[in-house]
Amino acid sequence: LIAPASADFMAKLVHGRADDLLSLMCLARACPLLVAPAMNREMWSAAPTQRNVEQLKLDGVKILGPGNGNQACGETGDGRMLEPAQLLAELVGFFQPKLLSGKRVMITAGPTVEPIDPVRVISNRSSGKTGYALARAAWESGAEVTLISGPTALSTPYGVSRIDVETAQQMHDAVLAHANNQDIFIAVAAVADWRVANVATDKLKKIGEQTPELSFIANPDILATVAKLPHGPWCVGFAAETERLSEFAHEKRLRKGIPMLIGNLAQHVMDADHTTVSIFDVDGEHPLPSSGKQDVARQLIHAISTRFTGTQA
Ligand code: C5P
Repeated sequence: LIAPASADFMAKLVHGRADDLLSLMCLARACPLLVAPAMNREMWSAAPTQRNVEQLKLDGVKILGPGNGNQACGETGDGRMLEPAQLLAELVGFFQPKLLSGKRVMITAGPTVEPIDPVRVISNRSSGKTGYALARAAWESGAEVTLISGPTALSTPYGVSRIDVETAQQMHDAVLAHANNQDIFIAVAAVADWRVANVATDKLKKIGEQTPELSFIANPDILATVAKLPHGPWCVGFAAETERLSEFAHEKRLRKGIPMLIGNLAQHVMDADHTTVSIFDVDGEHPLPSSGKQDVARQLIHAISTRFTGTQA
């Protein structure tokens, strides 16, 4: 990875020059080459630079960026080197197999929160880590990823477009607005099953030992709704149980009408960085070894792409 790569150095690469150590190493290499351009916006958009970029791509060089923004010369525009964290994400992604190249993947993640009054909510315990790890793994495998997220403390994985929602109804509406042009839908979010019917417009006041009377309405089942769409995406569900995982997960997969469901015992993995999951499909239960959530997410994307591709053949 050459970062930053100047316009001049890219021109040298195009011509296979080898009169300094770096260009010599590039010419003599037997490994991939990635280049992160960094230059003034006029230099970047100049015809020779653009010709060189096209030639480098034809030669199998991966061009990272450039970014857009303030430049050392005081101008603003295209040509900034990507930020180091972005380069790291690109570099890690570069080495992942492109199992979902060009596919569109939509993922829900995190909890939903349902208001009781303007300051109080009911919610589910969910850090969002598994859904975000899947979004990252899907992007790394070449997919265009839309992440529809309830409130979490996590930053958006690089390359992923994120839509923030709060309530189950908002998550439902955002998912359905995008569902028809997706290839795969992965429902990871811990959606609140019920919302408060009698949401108070003002903060409920505490009066002695009195407790408020709340009544509830069922929220829409987002996953089951998407699974029923006539031209909807291929659906994957999650089941977080506290007991009898195999039995509940099999039953849930059939009830939701989906080809694949990923189950875990919630009390063991909630908010943790590691997880232990099993895949449930038409052939039964397939346990995966315990590992970090990012590693498990990559294995799940592999399992999802294999099954999804099988249905497309
Ligand atoms: O029905 P249950 O909540 O146990 O099912 C869990 C699966 O269904 C998860 O994939 C979750 O994201 C999804 N789900 C949903 N909408 C709901 C409830 C759950 O999409 N209202």
